[in-house]
Amino acid sequence: MAARRHLEGGGGIRLREPAVIPRAPGPSHPEGATASPTAATLVLRGIGQLVTGDPRLPAPGVVTHAILAARGERVVYAGPASGFSGPVAADTVEVDVRGAAVIPGFVDAHTHLVWLGDRAEEFALRAGGVSYEEIARRGGGIRATVRATSAGALDDLVAATRERALRMLCQGTTTLEVKSGYGDGLEAELRQLRAAAAVGSAPDAPDVVATYLPLHGPAEGDRSAHVDAVVREGVAAAAPLASFVDCFCDAQAWSVEECERVLRAGRARGLRPKLHADQRTRSGGAALAARLGAVSADHLEHASDADLAALAAAGVIGVLLPGASLTLGGPPPPGRRLLAAGATVALATDCNPGTCWCERMALMVSLGVALAGLTPAQALVAATAGGAAALGLADRGRLLPGLRCDALVLETGSWLDVAYHLGADPVARVIARGRLAGGGAA
Ligand code: NIG
Ligand code: FE
Repeated sequence: MAARRHLEGGGGIRLREPAVIPRAPGPSHPEGATASPTAATLVLRGIGQLVTGDPRLPAPGVVTHAILAARGERVVYAGPASGFSGPVAADTVEVDVRGAAVIPGFVDAHTHLVWLGDRAEEFALRAGGVSYEEIARRGGGIRATVRATSAGALDDLVAATRERALRMLCQGTTTLEVKSGYGDGLEAELRQLRAAAAVGSAPDAPDVVATYLPLHGPAEGDRSAHVDAVVREGVAAAAPLASFVDCFCDAQAWSVEECERVLRAGRARGLRPKLHADQRTRSGGAALAARLGAVSADHLEHASDADLAALAAAGVIGVLLPGASLTLGGPPPPGRRLLAAGATVALATDCNPGTCWCERMALMVSLGVALAGLTPAQALVAATAGGAAALGLADRGRLLPGLRCDALVLETGSWLDVAYHLGADPVARVIARGRLAGGGAA
C-alpha cells in the first residue's frame, strides 16, 4: 500500500504523513543489532488520540498522547506515551504518526464477497421504481448471481474475491466474514467456501471467517428436498470449511421452520448459527435466533421491540447493515433500539452485488449514525469490537495488551472524523497482525 495523500487533521489540526523512524544500532538501543526476545517489534509514537475500545473507559476508550506497541502480532502496550518504558531493539519498527488518531482495525462481520457477474441493470431498474422482490420474481436478484457464480471455476472465484478483499484491507478491514449462498447446489457452495479460504490464507490479505449459507436464493425445484439435502449432506461437507451456518429467513426466501432445521443440523456439526432475520418482513427470524441462541441476528429492520429484547436476553449480537437498508429503503436499522434493549451491536457492509456493493466500513460507521441512531462512539465500537463479537472472536476488535494488533492510522487527528466525513476513506496506514500492511516504509 503506497503512502497516502497528505493528511488533514480534524479539529483544525493539519497532519503530515506517518514516518518510519530510521534506526541505527547504537548506545540508545542497548539491545544492539540482534533481535530481543522481549522488545516490541512495532512501536507507533506520536498518536494524538488512541481509540482502544477499553470498556472501562467512556466509549470508544480514547487515550490521548499515546503509544501503541506490539510484539509479533499482539499488542504489548496501548496507553499514554508517558507510561511506555520499551524496550525497543535494533529491529523494532518505530513509526511517528505525527498526531494522527489510531483506531482498531475494522471487523466486517457480514459479507457475500464471493460472486461473479454483476447486477448493474437491476440496480438501474430499482432506481426506476421496480422493487427488489419484483426483480426476484422475474428471475433476477440472488438467482442471477447464483447462475453467474456457479458457472465459475475456483480460480475465477478466488481472483474476484481477492480483489474485493484487498480493497477492503486498504480501507481498514483487517478481518471479514465471507458467506457462500450463490451456489446452485452443494458443489458450487463448497467451491465458494474454498475460495474464501484461499483468499484468507494469502499473507497479504485480511483474515477471513467463512459462513455456509445454504438457504439463500429461492430453491429452483422442490424446496423440501433442498432442505433435506442440506441437512443430510450439506452441513457435514461444509463443516470443515466454515465456522458458521446462516439462512435467509424471510417471506420471499425461507421459512422459520426450514431455517431452524438447517441451523440445528449445522450446529450438530459444529457450525455456529447466524441468521438473516426480519430484513424485508417480520418473518420471525429474530425470535428464532433468540430461541436458538444464535451468535448473531442480522438486518433486523422489521424486528419488534419484543424481538430485540429477546435477542438481548439471549446474548445474540445484532448485526446492522445500513448500506443495504439505504439501498432498499424501508425502516431504518434498529441501532438505538437494540442498545436500549441491552444488546451488543455490530455494523457490517453486507457487501454483495444486489443490495450493497460497498467495501468501505467507514461509510457504515457514518450510516450507523445517520440511519441507525447510534452515536459516533457507539458506531465505531460496533464496527470493531461489535464485529469481533459477531464472529465470536475474543482476540481482536480492541487495542488492549494481549489482543491482536490490528490497527488503523487515520489521515486526521480526530477519531470522530470516521463518522463525520461522509463517504471519505479516512485510513492512512493499516497495521495487520502487528505489521504495517504493504511494507515497512511510509
Ligand atoms: O444480505 N438478504 C439476503 N441476502 C443479501 C442480498 C444478496 C443479494 O441480493 O445478492 C443481503 O441483503
Ligand atoms: Fe446478507
